[in-house]
Order: sequence, then structure tokens, then C-alpha cells
Amino acid sequence: MTSTIRKEIERLRKEIERHNYLYYITNTPEISDAEYDALYQRLEALEAAHPETITRDSPTQRVGSSPSDSFSQIEHSIPMLSFGNAFDEEGLLDFDRRVRSHLDEASVAYVAEPKLDGLAVELVYRDGRLVNGSTRGDGRIGEDVTENLRTIRSIPLRLRTDVHDAPSVLEVRGEVFIERAAFEQLNRTREHEGLPTYANPRNLAAGTLRQLDARITASRPLSIYCYDIGRVEGLEISTQLQLLKILPELGLRVNPLYRMCESIDAVIEFYREMKDGRTDLPYEADGIVVKVNDFSTRRSVGAVSRSPRWAIAGKFPASRGMTRLRDITISVGRTGVLTPIAVLEPVHVHGVEISSATLHNEDEIERKDIRIGDQVIVERAGDVIPKISRAMHELRTGSERTFVMPEACPVCKTPVERSESEVAYRCPNLSCPARIVRSILHFISKGALDIDGMGPRLVEQLVDRDHVRTLGDLFRLDRSTLLGLDRLGPKSSDNLLAALERAKNVKLSRFLFGLGIPGVGAHLAERLAQTFSSLTDLSEASADALAELPEFGPLTAESIAAFFSSPHGRAAIDDLLDAGVAPYTEEPDKTPGTLASQRFVFTGTLARLPRAEASARVKALGGDVGGSVTAKTTYVVVGENPGSKAAKAEQLGIPTLTEDAFLDLLRSHE
Ligand code: IVH
Repeated sequence: MTSTIRKEIERLRKEIERHNYLYYITNTPEISDAEYDALYQRLEALEAAHPETITRDSPTQRVGSSPSDSFSQIEHSIPMLSFGNAFDEEGLLDFDRRVRSHLDEASVAYVAEPKLDGLAVELVYRDGRLVNGSTRGDGRIGEDVTENLRTIRSIPLRLRTDVHDAPSVLEVRGEVFIERAAFEQLNRTREHEGLPTYANPRNLAAGTLRQLDARITASRPLSIYCYDIGRVEGLEISTQLQLLKILPELGLRVNPLYRMCESIDAVIEFYREMKDGRTDLPYEADGIVVKVNDFSTRRSVGAVSRSPRWAIAGKFPASRGMTRLRDITISVGRTGVLTPIAVLEPVHVHGVEISSATLHNEDEIERKDIRIGDQVIVERAGDVIPKISRAMHELRTGSERTFVMPEACPVCKTPVERSESEVAYRCPNLSCPARIVRSILHFISKGALDIDGMGPRLVEQLVDRDHVRTLGDLFRLDRSTLLGLDRLGPKSSDNLLAALERAKNVKLSRFLFGLGIPGVGAHLAERLAQTFSSLTDLSEASADALAELPEFGPLTAESIAAFFSSPHGRAAIDDLLDAGVAPYTEEPDKTPGTLASQRFVFTGTLARLPRAEASARVKALGGDVGGSVTAKTTYVVVGENPGSKAAKAEQLGIPTLTEDAFLDLLRSHE
């Protein structure tokens, strides 16, 4: 083999590592995913032709092949300690007092970091090469999970040496975790395949890292953030701040959300910010970690038994709680779907009292084997509805009861139906009072007609007393009817009538959203209103024509066409028009700047125009072009041979456009 090939192989390895670094560590990717894949494939091909060149630290060698029977043990050369907890601000102040009592200082400088809820590991680098990696274990001895850690792309197999010479020994510690979105995605897939789901991201990360088959680990998106060191030789590090700066220079990933705090006051401020912002983080954090910054100060403060006095975890109020499931009731939705609702013994989770949670559907209850009377784990993830993640089967007493879905609608007693393709049971009765109430509440909600002064109680009364049977009936209400209701005075009645009158002139998009056509949310309703100049045009559109529109899948197209041709859909619209509701169309906005605040991300190769031109045209219309897919992305344009961005878009629920749809969109604005 020629030395040219050897050089090329080495050059490719360096280049791939550099792009890993730019992608994972500095967040400044220079090439597209497809270009990265091309480099990788080239290296793979060369290595396949010259297997004698393959080294263990080649980027292609991340996936171990043969599953092992068990893990061997690794002794940490310096024990991996754990530390105490503070549960509130007072606890953090106590910690600071304790630290200062061992020093002669009025205030101490700390570094505060988010405390990730994952799994602590230690990576050992010798002369810049990853030689092994282990779990924390009991702190002294952990399990050798080297093969699994090697599959994590954000763990370098070789340290970077452009700023520092490779230290002869570097033991670095960090947290392996999985992002929430990836966790949810994986659980959905498992659910689909009939496999048991993971209770939370931490369990999934732990389960994945302890997989005996590294190929499974490789298929799951684990991440790492490094935050501590063990034994180090050949590198001087004397403060936490310095540590957090040097690690990325060596190619090791550090959570950028750390903060240097000159005193405990700044720590408390960080604690508050993180506590309030925790649900916006893409991963689960259960608190903050506070560490004395200066290593020599740490030595003066010392340790008690196996936990240092110089560090503490400031835990956030729990986002999970355990309580008893008292009962399961049924709620009937707008489309007639019967949703089982958990009635819980009230429990405080994340500072809020929770007494009910959705159980989604019967299959979910069966799959999780949840029974009335069970002790259950209740979770609040962000501002979403609380959910029950699992029942504590091990705590059963034998008096628990299984839940059976009712055979008739609990509200109107019509026998329920379940179609082959659905998990849901439905009340098929279009005049079911529960369905009417829900339809009305949706129709008057913020995103639709936005009628103030009409809450669920009022709507229930109107439907119960037969004053309102259809959406149109809302606009036929008169003053005397309203005055006859409980708790509605003359002033509120007049206000409500005025609000209803004003609402008759409604944007078509809001009107369409308010109709509650299955699959049509606020965004698609807006697209429909932009595309069709009138309600009549839209109601005549075929499913095929609708499916041609960007963002409209065949199922949604079918659902819209079905709604407009059904007797029930037609009747609902006629009734509303008859009651005086007059939706108006917004002129499609063709002025420049119409892509303002829309952010596009491209992946794969565009066949009809270069990416640079595509970007320029987006920008000319006031839009923005991004390098990576985030929650702020409006569209991901998917060309040929797309990279991981397409999957990321799907994960985050961001709409994708084909090249043709993208060009149509541009033309509609240009
Ligand atoms: S430092 C003595 N920093 O918390 C210091 N730990 O209870 C050693 N953890 O086992 C650890 N985020 O799993 C440190 N930013 C962070 C952390 C962190 C999470 C975990 C880690 C450790 C546990 C200690």
C-alpha cells in the first residue's frame, strides 16, 4: 500500500473528528450532514480495501460488533464521590455557611451547573486516546462500558491537541443522558412495536448504557456532558472554571449553561432561573450542582466520609409524585372520542396540586396495566397535562379493580363504536350533549372565534336547557334567555351578546379552525384560507387537489373533503351562515417580507437550484435560513439524500417541504 493512501486515511480521520468537534462541541457545523456522510463513507471504503490500517480510534470503529455476556469491573483510581442535597434556597444558604465556617472568608466563589438526570461515567484517556470508560457503580468500582461509550459520537476517541499537548493521563467524568425528544420518539416506536416503554429518560439512558450489545446502544441517541476530573497527569487544572474551559479545548463536551458565581447570592439567582426554565431545556435536569470553584479551597474545606463538603446539589421540587388512583371516569370529546380520565388522590407535583390526569385510551391502560386503587407515578413534564407514567405493581394489595370501557356513551347512552383502525372508542351521536358542549368550547376558543365571557359552565347550561343545539344557535341567543341562566347578570349578558355580534365577522382561517375538522389545526386552517379565496371554493376542492398542497398529507386531505361533503358538515356550515356568521377571506399576502420570522433549514441536495440561491430567495422575502433544526425552525426543505436533519424535523414535529413544494411556496410570495 502506498503511503499516499495511508496519508489520505489519516487525513480523513482527522477531518471527520474535526467535524464531530465542530458539530458537538462548538455547535458551529461547517458542512452538511450529507457531506459528513460522504467523508465517512470514503474513509470506510478505504479502510475496507486496506483493513491493516484500521485502528481502534478510527471514527469508523465506534460500533462494537459482538455482544458480551457481562461487564467486567473497573476500579476508579480516585473514587467518584456523591454529594449532599439542598431542597430549597435555605438549604443552599446553609451549605454556603458550612463552607465558610471552614475558611476565613466573607464569601466564596462557586461554579453552578445544571444537574442532569442521567448516569455518571468516567472516561480514561492515556496519551490522548480513549482507553476505557466505566459507570460510577458504587463510587469505587464501576462497570466497564467502554464499547457502549465509544458509540457516543460526542465522546472523542482521541483528544484534540491543537491547544494543549495530550496529557499522559486524563480521567474525565460526566453525565450520559438522552434528550427528552429522543426519549419520546423511542418510546413511541416501542409502543408501536408492542414493546414495554421506558418510564423516563434516565432509565432509558441507564438501560442503553448497560446494553450488552453495543449495536443497540449505537442506535440510540445518547449524549454526554463532562463536568469533573479524576486523576490527571501532564495538565495543570486548578479551578472548576478552568476545567470547564479546557475540556472543550480537548474536544470534550461541556454543558454551556454553567455559571461563575462570585457569592452564594448569584448561586441562588441561578437556581431560580434554572428552576423556572427547566421545562424549556431539551433534557431533564433535576436541580443544580454547586461547587467551590478553587481546587485548593476545596482541599481546605474537605470531605466527610464519601461526600465532599465543597459541593451540593440544589434539587428542584419533584416533577414526579406517587399517589392513589381513586377511579377512572370518561370524558367525551368534540369528535365523540371517549377518553379515560384518572381521578387521583390529590398530590403536589412541581408545586401544583394534581387530582386528575389523562389516561389517553384503553390500550394505554392495558399496556401499562393500570388498575383502580393502584399506587401510580404522576408526572408533570413542562406545562403539558399531567400523565401517569406507571402503576406500582409491586405495591398491590389485591383489592385493585381492572377498568372496563363502557359500552354506551356515559352522557347520551348511545352505544359506542370502535373502528378497526383506531384505538379510540367513539360516541357516534352527533347530537350528544357532551360533543356539542366540546364543539362549542372549541368554536369560541382563543384560536377560533375568541369569544370572551363564555366559560364551560355557561355552555353546559345552554346545552342542558336546550337553548343551544348547534353552533349557529349561539348567534340566535337573546337577552331574556341569557338573563334566565344562573349567575348571569344584565351587564354580562349584554357584553356577551355584543361579543357574539362582533364575532360574526370572522377571518376564514379562524372559522375553519373553529369547525374542528379532524386534522385541521390553526396552522393548516391558515394555509387553507390563504389558498382558497372563499368557503365555496374550499368546499368544492377534492381530496386529491387538497393533497397536492404543501404540508397536507393524504389523510388530512381526505378528512377535509369528507367534512365538506358530509350532510353533517354541510348542515353545520349552512346553519352558521344562516345565523349571520360571515367569514371573510384574507387576501393572500404577496408583498415582499412575507416570509418574515419564518426560518428555513435545508438538508440534502436540491436538484433544481443551488442552495445558495435558495437561501438568497428566502432572505429576499424576509425569511431566515438556519444551519440546524431547532424548535424555532418553520420548515425543513428536504432534498435528495437528506441527512439527519429530516429525522430531527420529524422528531420535533416541524413540517418538511419537498423541493417542489418549497419552490411553489417561494413563487406564491415572489
Ligand atoms: S460533579 C463530587 N456535576 O450528580 C462531584 N455531578 O449526586 C462529582 N451530576 O453522581 C460530581 N450533573 O451523576 C457533578 N454538573 C454535575 C452533575 C453531576 C449531574 C450527578 C452525577 C453524580 C451525582 C451526585
